[in-house]
Amino acid sequence: MAGYEGKAVTSDVNSGTMIYEPILEEGVFRFDCSADDRNTAFPSLSFVNSKVRDTPIMGTHTVPSYLPTFECVLGQQLVKIELPPGTSFYGTGEVSGQLERTGKRVFTWNTAAWGYGPGTTSLYQSHPWVLAVLPNGEALGVLADTTRRCEIDLQKESTIQIIALSSYPVIIFGPFTSPTDVLISLSHAVGTMFMPPKWSLGYHQCRWSYDSDARVREIARTFREKGIPCDVIWMDIDYMDGFRCFTFDKERFSDPKSLVKDLHLSGFKAIWMLDPGIKSEEGYFVYDSGSERDVWIQTTEGRPFVGEVWPGPCVFPDFTQSKARSWWAGLVKDFIANGVDGIWNDMNEPTVFKAVTKTIPESNVHRGDTELGGCQNHSHYHNVYGMLMARSTYEGMTLANENKRPFVLTRAGFIGSQRYAATWTGDNLSTWEHLHMSISMVLQLGLSGQPLSGPDIGGFGGNATPRLFGRWMGVGSMFPFCRGHSEDDTKDHEPWSFGEECEEVCRLALKRRYRLIPHIYTLFYMAHTRGTPVATPTFFADPKDVRLRTHENSFLLGPLLIYARFFFFFFGYELLGLDQLQQVLPKGIWLSFDFDDSHPDLPALYLQGGSIIPLGPPHQHIGEANPTDDLSLLVALDEHGKAKGILFEDDGDGYEFTKGGYLLTTYVAEVESSVVTVRVSKTEGSWKRPTRRLHVQLLLGGGAMLDAWSTDGEILQIVMPSDIEVHSLVSASKKQYKIRMELASARSS
Ligand code: GLC
Repeated sequence: MAGYEGKAVTSDVNSGTMIYEPILEEGVFRFDCSADDRNTAFPSLSFVNSKVRDTPIMGTHTVPSYLPTFECVLGQQLVKIELPPGTSFYGTGEVSGQLERTGKRVFTWNTAAWGYGPGTTSLYQSHPWVLAVLPNGEALGVLADTTRRCEIDLQKESTIQIIALSSYPVIIFGPFTSPTDVLISLSHAVGTMFMPPKWSLGYHQCRWSYDSDARVREIARTFREKGIPCDVIWMDIDYMDGFRCFTFDKERFSDPKSLVKDLHLSGFKAIWMLDPGIKSEEGYFVYDSGSERDVWIQTTEGRPFVGEVWPGPCVFPDFTQSKARSWWAGLVKDFIANGVDGIWNDMNEPTVFKAVTKTIPESNVHRGDTELGGCQNHSHYHNVYGMLMARSTYEGMTLANENKRPFVLTRAGFIGSQRYAATWTGDNLSTWEHLHMSISMVLQLGLSGQPLSGPDIGGFGGNATPRLFGRWMGVGSMFPFCRGHSEDDTKDHEPWSFGEECEEVCRLALKRRYRLIPHIYTLFYMAHTRGTPVATPTFFADPKDVRLRTHENSFLLGPLLIYARFFFFFFGYELLGLDQLQQVLPKGIWLSFDFDDSHPDLPALYLQGGSIIPLGPPHQHIGEANPTDDLSLLVALDEHGKAKGILFEDDGDGYEFTKGGYLLTTYVAEVESSVVTVRVSKTEGSWKRPTRRLHVQLLLGGGAMLDAWSTDGEILQIVMPSDIEVHSLVSASKKQYKIRMELASARSS
């Protein structure tokens, strides 16, 4: 039997205030129950570098504002942090239910959770992390740095209580001035997200499964024929030969290379699934090579653990061992040669069928690398298994081509997985409740260090109705990760599957997304370089305004506010949509706009006064974009007549941007004596400004805007019309909007 590394569990009861030392940077403290606990803590898997967590920093004179207390009973460590009354809680990773977490309890234990509900306490990912927004708008973050199952209890107002079996350090980030500052500081510890290839920000079309290459080609063709933007088609498990990873069905996917070649010709990328369950079958090259290298997770008797997943009896790579990770990375590298653009890691909690616990036994043995925590049973590594698989897949993609940015999607994850993979919110349902929850879930992941996530648009289980599907696409097209997917026994869920009106809603929604890609890509560049989230709750616009803290029908993409319109169903009756209710906007100037595309099924859009966002043409796929395309700037002046915004441009793939190969432009607008001047105030990077037309759209309110054209890089001036003219432009625009909405309602009712 393998000898476990770690600490002896004592039966002593002790309690008190935790000891602390400053780590990482000003305002960040690590707390432990005792010096002994500090010295014997398990390595950190959330931190990019465990040493950073374990090394105090010198020269800081601050002391923690809040001191956690602890109680240790029978090896269980309970930590309590009491915050001022009126504190609001967020974070806790991938969780369903309300956005503001007071009253909730979460158990970090990666779990396959088909059809979860608002009360489910463990989903696919674990983020032992709470973001607390104090009554004055300042914020702090609490990380329980344990890979083990832990309970995060927020039932008592303004009190965080964390319990895990075995001792663990607690890291408190802040209080800092704003929640964004806390997330930036968190990213200094757990890393920022990988830089996504630009194409991955387009629309993704998935289904379980497009079961032949002919069907995949048909789907791709239909997108182009119908003029609905799309960048990626996904291959779910049925492309494999009998669910054997790294193989292709000889008949239905006989020539993946030519399939991908054709997809590429029409501007699509192809993403393929790889699960951790490897069919236990001699003669199957993955099984044989893994067995030869002795990479499988073992039972306590030292034999490979066998559990059932899609292919039947399976063994599972032990991703805690470097030899297993490099073996897997090598397989991935070879697999990429088939024309694979991205990889989807699923079932990596890991899920096992016919097991009450839905996973492998907690007593299973991982012979982990010493720097990850050494040899431990599964309960120690369960929550990081998915992250380590995603890491290994990411590394394999890098091995295949170090000049391409890998794209990996993982279902299971841990705080820190954003370094290697994007995620989605698992097996949701085609219901209004799930549509509603999907907003908070995406936001919550963003507040837990993972900016690139989204739900299965339209819902995975069950059948969407046209209205549900259209509304979901309307909101979903604004999520950081934008993918439609559905379960195998459901009706078709492509954008054209629900009739013409719904198809038009999807087209409009996705065209919006593609127009916004320059802005969205810029937000991702900031997320990668600075650690800022991409989609944030509305209260980020004004963390002091407590009215906004429970808002979960709207969210921000930087200064862009997206207000969803829902219909709620109670006892089968369709009630008024929120669009009919008063929308509560943050204080200050928020100017509404659209792309002449307003529709009751699409969310309302507002730009915050003081900001400028860049827009591009509504291409059919990202690869169609060209640096010389017309660049539009949407401008909303603040109360002082000023606005500012940035645009990041580079190759959209590869790493030239790390060597200066990019252009980061700051645009400013300012009104003086009734003339608005728009100009470049700053540039960064070695790229030359492309020669292109600049289209400035100055928002006036009520959807009205003034248009002006010039050449990008040159100063542009717009003479402000008189107040009376502005007034009539605004009322004409409002009238047009009303007509548009009424016509669309009539068409879809
Ligand atoms: C899991 C995934 C789902 C996928 C299915 C088949 O349920 O969550 O997205 O379609 O497995 O591979």
